[in-house]
Amino acid sequence: MRTWSWVFAVALVQALAGSLGAEQRPHTERISGSAGDVLEDNPVGRLKVYVYELPSKYNKKLLQKDPRCLNHMFAAEIYMHRFLLSSAVRTLNPEEADWFYTPIYTTCDLTPTGLPLPFKSPRMMRSAIQLISSNWPYWNRTEGADHFFVVPHDFGACFHYQEEKAIERGILSLHRRATLVQTFGQRNHVCLKDGSITIPPYAPPQKMQAHLIPQDTPRSIFVYFRGLFYDVNNDPEGGYYARGARAAVWENFKDNPLFDISTDHPTTYYEDMQRAVFCLCPLGWAPWSPRLVEAVVFGCIPVIIADDIVLPFADAIPWEEIGVFVAEEDVPNLDTILTSISPEVILRKQRLLANPSMKRAMLFPQPAQSGDAFHQILNGLARKLPHHRSVYLKPGEKVLNWTAGPVGDLKPW
Ligand SMILES: *[C@@H]1O[C@H](CO)[C@@H](O)[C@H](O)[C@H]1NC(C)=O
Ligand SMILES: *[C@@H]1O[C@H](CO)[C@@H](O)[C@H](O)[C@H]1NC(C)=O
Repeated sequence: MRTWSWVFAVALVQALAGSLGAEQRPHTERISGSAGDVLEDNPVGRLKVYVYELPSKYNKKLLQKDPRCLNHMFAAEIYMHRFLLSSAVRTLNPEEADWFYTPIYTTCDLTPTGLPLPFKSPRMMRSAIQLISSNWPYWNRTEGADHFFVVPHDFGACFHYQEEKAIERGILSLHRRATLVQTFGQRNHVCLKDGSITIPPYAPPQKMQAHLIPQDTPRSIFVYFRGLFYDVNNDPEGGYYARGARAAVWENFKDNPLFDISTDHPTTYYEDMQRAVFCLCPLGWAPWSPRLVEAVVFGCIPVIIADDIVLPFADAIPWEEIGVFVAEEDVPNLDTILTSISPEVILRKQRLLANPSMKRAMLFPQPAQSGDAFHQILNGLARKLPHHRSVYLKPGEKVLNWTAGPVGDLKPW
């Protein structure tokens, strides 16, 4: 079986390489109907956003203290602020705003090795909401239902990086009515509430651009993956890490010549992805892994191994058509699953991936470009308009409980 599929796959890769030769550049393909069209929507004129002015201790000061915050995978919260300040959707008149945005960099508190610590985030968030609710009348009018927050932590507004603790905490109670813009996305999870907008993690656009190789380079690698299979420090058995999917990939395919998988991170990592047909994305509960962004940008078909995942901008990006979804329990059959996908289907996915609007939607470039991830967030917010009348509270009506949640969160920030 293995020999057969290997021969088949090599032939397939050669066929693909041939069909993508110099004379026959891969033409791109648009999805007709909602998906492709929605991706190219222009949000300007469809919504107005008011940006609260907060003391710099909530944003700029934190960044001054640690400029590394600009490069980590949660940096979208900083870039979104910068983007909105000069965006055509910004209004300086809060009376005409559809949405209110609070610029707060809650992930910009890094350990010496660069990992964000979310422990102060709830207090900081609470402090900011207290400030906007006492200085402006708009929070109290809806108790946040026309406000959005960018919360790119591991488990979004649950503000903990361990799943168990995150679940125990739940979403910060003051965010109950707000719209959350977050990288975390898993169906039926307490840390993902209805109406949230799932976004890609921040991956450095210039760095990726710098590694582009000619589009007609043959894709001579069948399956590619670089990364950890086991979290040796926290979870040596591999049962928890990416819910065991990565460990299963390694155990089943470490000796399979179709699988170019390893923990070594080569300097040719980005180039290798452009030479691969399939790129594994064993995401576990972590759509914030940059792998998905990299696969799309480099035209490598993402093989998504993450049951119940909610992928970025899933209402605009046709993930089912671009990628391959493999159930976590089917990882041992990955070789059969991937080698039995027909060349026609592979070529179609590659043409869809070659569509520049897919790539743009995954990136937060400086300066912004139409159709990029910033614009997709705005499109998502615009599609929620107009707000239902019920979001406006009656005079004196209160819904939020300001003292709910862990006592530690109530301490001033
Ligand atoms: C909003 O409500 C809070 C709590 O009820 C109150 O302390 C605050 O003064 C109100 N804000 C405004 C602008 O009236
Ligand atoms: C608010 O939450 C606190 C802590 O859970 C609880 O003791 C209190 O009764 C709640 N208040 C209301 C009005 O529900």
